[in-house]
Amino acid sequence: MCGIIAYIGPEEALPRLLEGLKRLEYRGYDSAGVALVDESGIWTRREVGRVAGLVRKAVDPPHATVGIAHTRWATHGGVTLANTHPHMDGPERIAVVHNGIIENMDALKAQLEAEGVEFRSETDTEVLPHLIRRHYKGDPLQAVRSALAHVHGSYGIAVAFAEHPDLLIAARFGSPLVIGLGDGETVLASDPQAIVAHTRRVLYLDDREVALITAEGASVQRLDGGEVDRDVSLIEADYGVADLAGHPHFMSKEIWEQPESLRRCLRGRIQREHGNAKLGGLNMSPRDLVNVREVVTVGCGTAFHAGMVGSMAIEHLARIPARAEVASEFRNRHPIIGPDTLYFAVSQSGETADTLGAIEEIQVKGGQVMGVVNVVGSTIARTCGAGTYVYAGPEIAVASTKAFTSQVTAMLVFTLMLARTRNLSLAQGEGMAEALLTAPDKVSEYLADPGPIDAAVELVKDARYCLFMGRGFSYPVALEGALKLKEITYVPCEAYPAGEMKHGPIAMLEKGTPVIVVAPRGSQRDKVISNIKEVEARGAKCIIIHTQGDEELARLAAVSIPVPDVREFVSPLVTVLPLQLLAYKVGLALGRDIDKPRNLAKSVTVE
Ligand code: M6R
Repeated sequence: MCGIIAYIGPEEALPRLLEGLKRLEYRGYDSAGVALVDESGIWTRREVGRVAGLVRKAVDPPHATVGIAHTRWATHGGVTLANTHPHMDGPERIAVVHNGIIENMDALKAQLEAEGVEFRSETDTEVLPHLIRRHYKGDPLQAVRSALAHVHGSYGIAVAFAEHPDLLIAARFGSPLVIGLGDGETVLASDPQAIVAHTRRVLYLDDREVALITAEGASVQRLDGGEVDRDVSLIEADYGVADLAGHPHFMSKEIWEQPESLRRCLRGRIQREHGNAKLGGLNMSPRDLVNVREVVTVGCGTAFHAGMVGSMAIEHLARIPARAEVASEFRNRHPIIGPDTLYFAVSQSGETADTLGAIEEIQVKGGQVMGVVNVVGSTIARTCGAGTYVYAGPEIAVASTKAFTSQVTAMLVFTLMLARTRNLSLAQGEGMAEALLTAPDKVSEYLADPGPIDAAVELVKDARYCLFMGRGFSYPVALEGALKLKEITYVPCEAYPAGEMKHGPIAMLEKGTPVIVVAPRGSQRDKVISNIKEVEARGAKCIIIHTQGDEELARLAAVSIPVPDVREFVSPLVTVLPLQLLAYKVGLALGRDIDKPRNLAKSVTVE
């Protein structure tokens, strides 16, 4: 999704802005641009394609210590130079970069055109500099405020004025912005990842707020007037930086980081001797937990799949009703919010618009919602106010891998807490705690010897269609495996509960069709064997993920991929690994852009 970076301070702005844009690249984009402000006016350079192209084009800049920059992911208007941000007013004295969507763009554009404004792009964003120009009477803050009073939609914006090279204005409604407070310099960004190189002291802007930013800091105000007393937050020291650490892609780095990310997620949370766990951020006592009658998770994509695993574990082990909801469906269907239901909003980025919309719907109806979030200080974490961080560390590849296993782990830790308030004995709790604590070692053990993934790649890479299937805890894993394969390789595939396969998808099978079966030891294994026989009878070739030592399944497989033996509820943490590797290696074999697949963005901040 689009990214914003802005700088004001004593140093040359251009290198800092370009470096910030590179840190935002992982979010997905199709063009990039920069604007610098000095006494003579505003200098811009824009380029379609990668930031590297912009870097080549941004030569001979003026000496400027203030500027704004943007990576654009096209929504209104095609991927063209004219549509690339920054956009300017008529006299080119005001420059704007914008994330979000201006919903009343057509009406605003018509009014401005009637006043004689000539538009240079097809974007919704371009109405903003013209509107700000219309309201500018010498006070830049007031001009932005007055202009935004006419705007419907979502925005995170940074505005530079040629008349005021000593300040920037930022405003937010529905699209995140964070202000980094350095030593005599201030950096604004849509993502803390672009700020950590400069400072860890930040101010988060909330919706309907505007900030006047100078090299000395920022003053935050309400858009409709009134000062805001915003505390400075600290980005955690181990927030991490987005470097490849010797890996060819972030996706591979993040797959191999999972033993460590899971250890971080579990650290200090499991009370082995009490057969229990504690997630401090939930702020819930056993008495509060006893009063929970139902659990519902909301999330999108991978986060939805993690919520499915979590809700299955809760139903299975805590014996209370639990279900996972797709956030975009949930938020828009006027859901019934139970007073005794505990909701979890699961999100890696903490910025996903649909998940945020679901949270707001739950809160409006008086429900209690907790975040299960990776990015510290993100909008979802702050909107929920309580919850748990999963501490996966920065996830840069668009395809989510380590965030999934950490989200699942955090939900399993919660399951243990909840189950102990119900019918889980001390001894059973100890067993569960042990299974969780040893999970990172099991992940390590698998990654040390991942099995014949290359043989599976050969079956999948040229396939016209692949089917993933699993039952119980392995069904969300099958869904996640198919999502990874689609995202990274564009190989057509889908996932089904193995028992549902006979009700339609079996018609897709022909001689040689790869069917990826997730079948670890556990309550569902024997039933899946029947499904394997059904698909093999139709000529399918099965790639079977099974528990080490399960010779019967190994014999049935065209490609047999053993994973370490773990308790059934922990199995998604190991069975998903070969599927992540399969997607990664098929992507490599097909020459795909692994970390930045086509049409996708890391953080989906529009509905
Ligand atoms: O940041 P979130 O976890 O809220 O993102 C949700 C989905 O957009 C995300 O999981 C998406 O499906 C990934 N690209 C999957 O790999």
